[in-house]
Amino acid sequence: MKSHGVVAAGALLVGAACAASNTPGIVKWDIQRQHRRQELTRLGKRADTYEEVITNEEMRGGYFATCQIGTPGQPVTLQLDTGSSDIWVPANTAQVCRQRGSGDGCAFGSFDPDASSTFEIVGDGEFDIAYLDQSFAKGDYITDVFEIGGAVLQNMTMGLGLNTDIDHGLVGVGYPTNEAIIHSTDNLDAMYPNLPIQMVNQGLISTPAYSLWLNDLDASSGNILFGGIDTEKYVGQLTRINVYPTQRDPDIWTSFLVALTSLDAVSPSGQDRLSSRQFPIPVVLDSGTTLSYLPTDIAHQTWREVGAIWAPEVGNAVLPCSLRNSKGYFSFGFAGPSGPRINVTMDELVLDLTLGPQPKFTSGPYRGQEACRFGIQNFTSPPFLLGDTFLRSAYVVYDLINHQIGLAATDFNSTDSNIVPFPSEGAHIPSATPAPDQSQVTQTPSFSTPAYEASPGFTDLSAWPSETDNAAPGSAPAFGPGQVAVVGLTMVLTMLGSGLFVLL
Ligand SMILES: *[C@@H]1O[C@H](CO)[C@@H](O)[C@H](O)[C@H]1NC(C)=O
Ligand SMILES: *[C@@H]1O[C@H](CO)[C@@H](O)[C@H](O)[C@H]1NC(C)=O
Ligand SMILES: *[C@@H]1O[C@H](CO)[C@@H](O)[C@H](O)[C@H]1NC(C)=O
Ligand SMILES: *[C@@H]1O[C@H](CO)[C@@H](O)[C@H](O)[C@H]1NC(C)=O
Repeated sequence: MKSHGVVAAGALLVGAACAASNTPGIVKWDIQRQHRRQELTRLGKRADTYEEVITNEEMRGGYFATCQIGTPGQPVTLQLDTGSSDIWVPANTAQVCRQRGSGDGCAFGSFDPDASSTFEIVGDGEFDIAYLDQSFAKGDYITDVFEIGGAVLQNMTMGLGLNTDIDHGLVGVGYPTNEAIIHSTDNLDAMYPNLPIQMVNQGLISTPAYSLWLNDLDASSGNILFGGIDTEKYVGQLTRINVYPTQRDPDIWTSFLVALTSLDAVSPSGQDRLSSRQFPIPVVLDSGTTLSYLPTDIAHQTWREVGAIWAPEVGNAVLPCSLRNSKGYFSFGFAGPSGPRINVTMDELVLDLTLGPQPKFTSGPYRGQEACRFGIQNFTSPPFLLGDTFLRSAYVVYDLINHQIGLAATDFNSTDSNIVPFPSEGAHIPSATPAPDQSQVTQTPSFSTPAYEASPGFTDLSAWPSETDNAAPGSAPAFGPGQVAVVGLTMVLTMLGSGLFVLL
């Protein structure tokens, strides 16, 4: 997620009209085995899909794709980010890549422009991007050949990070209106065709759209599918909901901002409808963010349901790691009462704090137990973020033309595949039905305190101090001093390119 915007995402614009709906005639498309490279040599506008395996790098807190840049191709492993819109790669000469001895500081790869015969500088010193965690990259805009998932793009505009504190590049697949060049020039005309657009321009896919399947927290990989959906990667119905513009008159869409309209805590002991003064909550679906961030009032309710407590040492709500075995789950509702729901189970919401043994609570109700990070954290102002802790439980289709998101429950660990390409430019998401009554997404009336009937079912621990709803439950845990240092280090690593510490 990028840190600043010409167009600031404000409160959710409610009751907005649906984007133009020009449903095309049904096009019967023969499902073909997935084509990769052989399709690319063909002339003409034959559209296809391109699938890239993305690996879950737990230590770095993100999903990474293996790409190639230049001629001959130089392999680089880049973090996939739906919350930003530029591809960029650290230069081999960047300090961060040279730091650790003999130029191996960027283990995920860096780019040597001198070794590419197709490299060109198109914006000398014009590349300048900053992420929410205050990490940054600066350098030149360049063009070169770019390969991802077997799709080869000629003349792809990218950033070359000459000066950066991030030791790996990113592949931002968000709206071109969110490119760094637009923020730094404050001018929409500076927009260039970024990856999804360039894939269409070069006839590789028919419409700027892709599907993201992150899979289980315990699984090492998921995939991104450009130009199509895979009906075997989700269960139940795929539902289309509206993406809201971040600016009105004229409408400009810069991020995948959708309306979160309900949140339930469900466990064997009961079900609670959680409450927020900010419903409908504007949330951005952001694969570049590890955790999820909701308004403080409702975040605190989720903590109370599961017994999470605020840990100032790590700046996060934490809970006993054993709660990953809890039978409870949270049910996220979107786009109104008839919209899609995504259930997120506790095993997806309890994350390790460190790679090695977890630090232990040294005091408080959980004394002696291992401490983990909770997947739902609090934040003070919109837009709020649904990051990987939410996205893993959903199959998400991003349609950048119709400004719609397709949502369905993920099919964890599915090994089957049935790929359906978008038939044409501007076509709606295949196999998806629109959420009904989205115009009824309106400001919700009142705030009411949940009864916390689900809470005992999340955890047997009854040593809960009773608190008011807006106070964080429990008192801060104390960690052993040695352990805190370890925690701090990991935080820095996992926050790179993904954290959330600066307000928009
Ligand atoms: C390459 O891309 C740039 C930026 O999008 C564009 O201005 C230029 O015309 C393109 N060049 C070729 C040869 O296609
Ligand atoms: C998916 O696979 C991983 C790794 O094999 C496993 O740990 C996990 O339990 C599986 N998840 C489900 C829901 O089957
Ligand atoms: C999600 O949770 C809700 C609320 O408990 C339930 O009604 C629904 O059936 C669940 N959906 C799935 C796909 O399990
Ligand atoms: C989150 O909640 C904790 C505990 O109430 C509070 O100390 C912290 O400032 C909050 N963070 C944000 C970003 O609101």
